[in-house]
Amino acid sequence: MFDFDPFDPAYFSNPFPYYEEMRRDHPVYRREIADHRVWPHYWMLSRADDVNAALANWRTFSSARGTLVDTDTSLIPPNIFNMDPPRHDELRSVLARVLTPSRIAGLEPHIRRYSEELVAEFLERGGFDGATEFAHMIPTVTMCALMDLPLDERQRFLDWNLVTMAGADFTSPEALAAYGEMGQYWTGLVAQRRQHPGTDLISQIIHAEVDGEALSDDEIGGFCSLLHDAAQNTTMNMITHGVMALGRHAEHRRQLAADPALWSKGVEELLRFVSPVQGLTRSTTRDVELHGQIIPEGDQVLLLYGAANHDEHAYPNPEVLDFDRPNLKAHWAFGHGIHYCLGNAVARLEIKVSLQTLTELAGDWSVDDAAVEYNQLVPTRGVAHAPITF
Ligand code: HEM
Repeated sequence: MFDFDPFDPAYFSNPFPYYEEMRRDHPVYRREIADHRVWPHYWMLSRADDVNAALANWRTFSSARGTLVDTDTSLIPPNIFNMDPPRHDELRSVLARVLTPSRIAGLEPHIRRYSEELVAEFLERGGFDGATEFAHMIPTVTMCALMDLPLDERQRFLDWNLVTMAGADFTSPEALAAYGEMGQYWTGLVAQRRQHPGTDLISQIIHAEVDGEALSDDEIGGFCSLLHDAAQNTTMNMITHGVMALGRHAEHRRQLAADPALWSKGVEELLRFVSPVQGLTRSTTRDVELHGQIIPEGDQVLLLYGAANHDEHAYPNPEVLDFDRPNLKAHWAFGHGIHYCLGNAVARLEIKVSLQTLTELAGDWSVDDAAVEYNQLVPTRGVAHAPITF
């Protein structure tokens, strides 16, 4: 009997064969939760067409009750991830206005310099941990540059993220304590930026208006938390998996080294192949009939972006890394529809610059596969340790 639990560590290292079986035989798959907090069960959708259609239909597949499996979202600081229109669209437009292409382009020298410093040190040592020593640091440093935060506090920002995103329970006492500390930090920061505004993202959000009204301090704090949460865990896991994927695919690494113009294609295919966000949920606002099953109103549905990205109908030979695919950019790594990742350009820049720097300076590297430690599958496919040698 088919039995797939995305919270079972047995599936963390390679969920793709299970997704294949699910797409083929169980496209609407129901799972009971023994010790549930909110929902006694949830459904999973794995076919690309179904995931895409659900993401395009926010009226039926709502984000208002959260996007994490069996999580009481009222305990987590409110943000646009967990909102439907109209408030979602109003607040999203604030962030979209301040995250300008020139601001994003201005991040490149920071990411490049920092990546170069890290790789130079790794080369002296002959190896590194692709997760903790490299990939974890890149988004933290990028966020410090975006929000003009002190770089020497980067470990604190990273620790908050590691605690809030550790494992299946996003409302554990440790996670809620970290959210509390973060909330206090953002409140202090917003007060300070009100008095001494700069040109950073937070100062700009403070001065943004929706229909002639300024945002409340809670809403601004929510943006800070959102940026911190959305930007860190996703990107660090993507970069870790990128280091591992290129470590295992020497030919692709050499192609990229020989032709820097290939990086934009390479980044898209790596995003599809890795799918750092493997799945997020919606809750149904009416009964939905799909493939002969009824998903009742009010149920939670996990949309498996990772399974959609490996659907052979959308991407033939999905387990092959192929920089020449015709539809490279059509993947679901950044979602689809009204919640499509607002930070996608920042993420693409971080992935490209960090992996390109490693490729140019280090040339060849390999992954000690037996020693890689995975710690999560949904929402992000997390890697705790990824030992790399040159
Ligand atoms: C590889 C890195 C990243 C991946 C894979 C990723 C993935 C995603 C996905 C799948 C969503 C859609 C959520 C949903 O369907 O409910 C999303 C939303 C979002 N992302 Fe990203 N993300 C990444 C990096 C970033 C970065 C660096 C930022 C900020 C600088 C960011 C900011 C956001 C925001 C604000 C949203 C919410 C959009 C909304 O609800 O309208 N993300 N991201």
